[in-house]
Amino acid sequence: MTALKKPQAQYLKDYQAPPFLIDHIDLTFDLLPLNTRVTSVMTITKKIAGVADLVLDGIDLTLISITVDNNAYTDYDQRDEQLVIHNLPEQCQLTIVNEIAPKTNTSLEGLYLSGGAYCTQCEAQGFRKITYYLDRPDVLASFDVTIIADEQFTHLLSNGNKLVEGKLDNGRHFAKWQDPFKKPSYLFALVAGDFDVLEDTFITQSGRTIDLALFVDKGNLPKTPHAMASLKKSMQWDEQRFNLEYDLDIYMIVAVDFFNMGAMENKGLNIFNSKCVLANQQTATDKDYHTIESIVGHEYFHNWTGNRVTCRDWFQLSLKEGLTVFRDQEFSSDLGSRALNRIDAVKVMRTHQFSEDAGPMAHPIRPEQVIEMNNFYTVTVYDKGAEVIRMMHTLLGEEKFQQGMAMYFQRHDGQAVTCDDFVAAMSDASGIDLAQFKRWYSQAGTPRLIVKQEYDKLSGTFSLHIEQLAPLNQPDNAPLHIPFAIELLDQQGESVPLQFEGQPVDHVLNVTTAQQTFNFDGLTTKPVAVLLEDFSAPCIVEQQNTATELLHIMRFARSDFSRWDAQQQLFIEAVKGAIATPVNNQLDPAIITALRGLLVAQEGDLALIAELLKLPSFDTLAAEFNVIPVDQLVAVTNQFELQIAQQLRSEFLGCYQSLIDDGSVSATAVAIRALKGMCLHYLAKINALDINQLLVSTANSHNMTNVLAALSAVVKADNPLAKELLNQFDSQWRHDVLVMDKWFALQAMQGGDDAIANIKKLYDHPCFNFSNPNRVRALVGSFSHFNTAQFHREDGAGYQLLGDLLVKLNAINPQNASRMLTPFMSWRRYDEVRSVAIKAQLQRLALLDNLSDDLYEKVDKALQ
Ligand code: TRP
Ligand code: ZN
Repeated sequence: MTALKKPQAQYLKDYQAPPFLIDHIDLTFDLLPLNTRVTSVMTITKKIAGVADLVLDGIDLTLISITVDNNAYTDYDQRDEQLVIHNLPEQCQLTIVNEIAPKTNTSLEGLYLSGGAYCTQCEAQGFRKITYYLDRPDVLASFDVTIIADEQFTHLLSNGNKLVEGKLDNGRHFAKWQDPFKKPSYLFALVAGDFDVLEDTFITQSGRTIDLALFVDKGNLPKTPHAMASLKKSMQWDEQRFNLEYDLDIYMIVAVDFFNMGAMENKGLNIFNSKCVLANQQTATDKDYHTIESIVGHEYFHNWTGNRVTCRDWFQLSLKEGLTVFRDQEFSSDLGSRALNRIDAVKVMRTHQFSEDAGPMAHPIRPEQVIEMNNFYTVTVYDKGAEVIRMMHTLLGEEKFQQGMAMYFQRHDGQAVTCDDFVAAMSDASGIDLAQFKRWYSQAGTPRLIVKQEYDKLSGTFSLHIEQLAPLNQPDNAPLHIPFAIELLDQQGESVPLQFEGQPVDHVLNVTTAQQTFNFDGLTTKPVAVLLEDFSAPCIVEQQNTATELLHIMRFARSDFSRWDAQQQLFIEAVKGAIATPVNNQLDPAIITALRGLLVAQEGDLALIAELLKLPSFDTLAAEFNVIPVDQLVAVTNQFELQIAQQLRSEFLGCYQSLIDDGSVSATAVAIRALKGMCLHYLAKINALDINQLLVSTANSHNMTNVLAALSAVVKADNPLAKELLNQFDSQWRHDVLVMDKWFALQAMQGGDDAIANIKKLYDHPCFNFSNPNRVRALVGSFSHFNTAQFHREDGAGYQLLGDLLVKLNAINPQNASRMLTPFMSWRRYDEVRSVAIKAQLQRLALLDNLSDDLYEKVDKALQ
């Protein structure tokens, strides 16, 4: 099966510095929906003698004129997606005028209309949809931007500082902006719209006052205080933890409804998906609050890690994204619960990243080959990238890591650099050799560690034999440098000091070869070993700990993360056991006892207890099998949940009723809601009058976290209350599309034979819109990721639904189509019937006449 066209891949090894520099660009936008005129005046310098052609990128542009040093210029050629200008002098002023049509741009890349507002998205290669340019991150220019628009667009915004604004004829007005910091084109931004504004200020550590402004659609002001508070916390945290102060005098955030990702770090003018900004207690969940804080932080932290120091080329994306995710994770952990943040991050790794790394799109955190860059904003580049930074942090320690960061900025401020440059700064500043460690940047796949434990009673010696296996699909991977953290517990649950032959041993072991043994002595009984404490490396560990040992770890490990990790392992083993020998499938009573203990004692962080009560997700369990046993996994997890619900009914009820949620956003109240929500999740499985009353009253409360907990509990339990409660929610919230996304997601979770027909019917709901990525993901994304039983129906109707959607999205928004395709990528891991059905959908896409590069790359890889 071959597609009709074959887009070209780009290779890291082919990198060449740009032959021309663009030092300065002066842009003027005359904004109109169908013919916006863009005038670009560039200062061009030839860098490499003898190069005759300046090759500029440009897509979907109408060229009006080219002028060189004020003279009309005709020595050029237009190619597909390129403008080639011949025989330019060593230095010149190049003026290009072109037109674009923001109104018909549904790709949400370049300049487009979101609702009634003009906005831009330029990362990675969207600037070329605005004007002809050297659209690559190693071309750094200063930008002056003039925006002209109808006066109804009250706010005209771009990067940096506003120089002047004023009225023009014909009901139009203008504003002129200047960004003093040189930047690559992907950080350019422009917004024109009519907004409400929340203003505030932040005083930096050196005493400068920064103006802060948050622009939202009219009427949304009451939903802005949380994002503003998050921004101020981010600014303060970056000063305290990383000694990094904001540089411009103004920081703006604009929230738009049509956006492909979460948010974008454009210099001084972040553009956000409105769902990552807007929140109040009635409309947003505690999880939404947390996400908003973390994304506001992420984009703010990019100002130094991404903007002041940027990427030489897009293969280096993890230079800014891995590092900035690490920074936002640390921000969330310093401000909230470190253990829960770690649990969240590791879940992302074990579910999404491990499966990407084992599938046809597997790539190193620094990819070597790319067809469509938008396909590489992945969990590998972002989240595994952050794990790689975290491992360096573990190896160096906070102090030396910060010295490395300081050296990185000292060497590279204002430059476009590589991942090698980052590691060199870390290594040079700390004196720690990271040569072998750097393999993490070039090797794909998840390393597998086989750990064997041995205890010699006579000598009191305990040994860990660690074998490092290359991932199955990457057989020539060389051994990695793996920081392997451990804890040894004695029978009383006390932590044993690590020592060997009179010397203390650090709890982070350096695993560097294919096979290695680590010895510890002075042990009078066999210890219980906590392995890969805090997930100190992104690896899979195969180990021999028994259920008794795992229960011991769950009770006593010093790391709350590792306690949760042991719980996950217990459930995974139980599920695997039940599938291997499906006799009576009873959950080990010791596990039930442990869960009862947690519920009754309610000791420590209640949000952690909620996590400890949660079964591993379908994706986590699926990762344990070569061929995913879909039906058995669904059946066994249902049985286990029902057993837990039945055996702990009174404990869940007692816990729910004893905890009082004061409705605030304090950590305590958030934790209480999390635990109560988990109680409801189990209780909804039991159909009884008193429990139904509880569910209905919670669904009618005024806190979105509680409302959703009740609704999601009834939907997932197939409780007969679901239909009526969902209808009620629809009539209550139709005016608020972000809230309706939660409703679409709940609809997508429903079971039953009409599940798929129901989703198709919702395509006609007044709030649904195929052009809005939030709506599409809420409805179809939730369905394909979380409604396992229906998406993976044996008759293929679930796959057909997604296939139909992808055909449609391919033409509207290829970037969103490509992200929605992900569940199809692991088609080879399903049984015969299912894999054939998914493959047919992939083949159908491959034959599309207008197949986008985005889909081509993934479909082609999947079918290889
Ligand atoms: N740089 C953004 C971030 O991670 C990611 C991003 C936002 C993006 N919008 C995009 C990437 C569009 C590709 C395309 O913070
Ligand atoms: Zn980012």
